[in-house]
Amino acid sequence: MNTGPETRNSAAATSAPTSANSAVATPATAIVNIASLVTNDPSLGDESPLGLIRDAAVVIEGDRVVWVGESSKAPATDNRVDAGGRAVIPGFVDSHSHLVFAGDRTAEFNARMSGRPYEAGGIRTTVAATRAASDEALSANVARYLREALAQGTTTFETKSGYGLTVEDEARALRIAAEHTDEVTYLGAHIVSPDYADDPAAYVDLVTGPMLDACAPYARWVDVFCEKGAFDGDQARAILTAGRAKGLHPRVHANQLSYGPGVRLAVELDAASADHCTHLTDADVDALASGDTVATLLPGAEFSTRAEWPDARRLLDAGVTVALSTDCNPGSSFTSSVPFCIALAVRDMGMTPDEAVWSATAGGAAALRRTDIGRLAPGTRADLTLLNAPSHVHLAYRPGVPLVSEVWRRGVRVV
Ligand code: NIG
Ligand code: FE
Repeated sequence: MNTGPETRNSAAATSAPTSANSAVATPATAIVNIASLVTNDPSLGDESPLGLIRDAAVVIEGDRVVWVGESSKAPATDNRVDAGGRAVIPGFVDSHSHLVFAGDRTAEFNARMSGRPYEAGGIRTTVAATRAASDEALSANVARYLREALAQGTTTFETKSGYGLTVEDEARALRIAAEHTDEVTYLGAHIVSPDYADDPAAYVDLVTGPMLDACAPYARWVDVFCEKGAFDGDQARAILTAGRAKGLHPRVHANQLSYGPGVRLAVELDAASADHCTHLTDADVDALASGDTVATLLPGAEFSTRAEWPDARRLLDAGVTVALSTDCNPGSSFTSSVPFCIALAVRDMGMTPDEAVWSATAGGAAALRRTDIGRLAPGTRADLTLLNAPSHVHLAYRPGVPLVSEVWRRGVRVV
């Protein structure tokens, strides 16, 4: 379909990017001469899920996109940026990270690479370091990994608590996270706190009671690590249900290390996402295909734990919506790089480059139940990345190469 820019860009019609006749209009910027533009809006481009437009332009006004289309048809604007025949994609939406932590786990990683398995209990090392850290140190750590992620094209990220595991430390983690992002997740149920090793039920009472009360004001989401060695299905249900009663929406660490009830519970509770999805039965896949829960795949974790890859192909072929994220944390996946995850997903999880780029942008947005990000269309947030490459496919074709050239967030060039 090749509809003209007039019909395609309805928001632009009510918010004209040219300011010549309007004293109050914000200056508009056109990024022109884009060899290939991923819009993730099939109606704007070639009707593929990526909504690809060749020889394209994007017009930004304030923090929004107001026009996309063929470069030769771009409206006059105050400012013009020449993309030089390179590719533009929506900013990555990293819908799963654990950035409020202190310390690192180099020794544990080293041991794993010498053959030791990954276990949920390693989280305790980070809990001790995080509890001992000052607010300033934790906030500086979040800022550091955010800068890292931004330089690699991530314009939206979710992050969690989960390394405090006391009322005060969990609430502090979420307060700090909320200084950096709106997508904040309460994960008091990461593991049973070492302080409650002899009485897990009392810890669940804490997580669903006083800890939830202290944490809910800072969070949008509630999460639980539903896994052997962490929380079983009944505990997970109690925690997610209590969170929901306080206005938090569920998401679940599910089926990462073993088969279990996490994925089906996530779908049953209409969680925004079931994250990891490495060990899935046919019933799990069917459940995901029948509901609105996104399967968020985190290949950095399988890479860093030398684990079996999640089967993205199986999920996609079943019609499941798939997101790709970093899981950035000091234990199982210490990478802030979405491009790295895209390369892994294409090489080892059966995704095509188009699917992987979609999952890291629109898929991440779906996992956060957002429609204003992860796409480039009139009215969406002007979050975009200019690649030092003619096509988004290079993200997988040239693994490990720093291809992110410029990043625009909310209409401002930040990299
Ligand atoms: O998503 N699986 C649970 N939580 C993290 C790992 C956290 C850690 O090892 O510190 C994850 O992989
Ligand atoms: Fe995680």
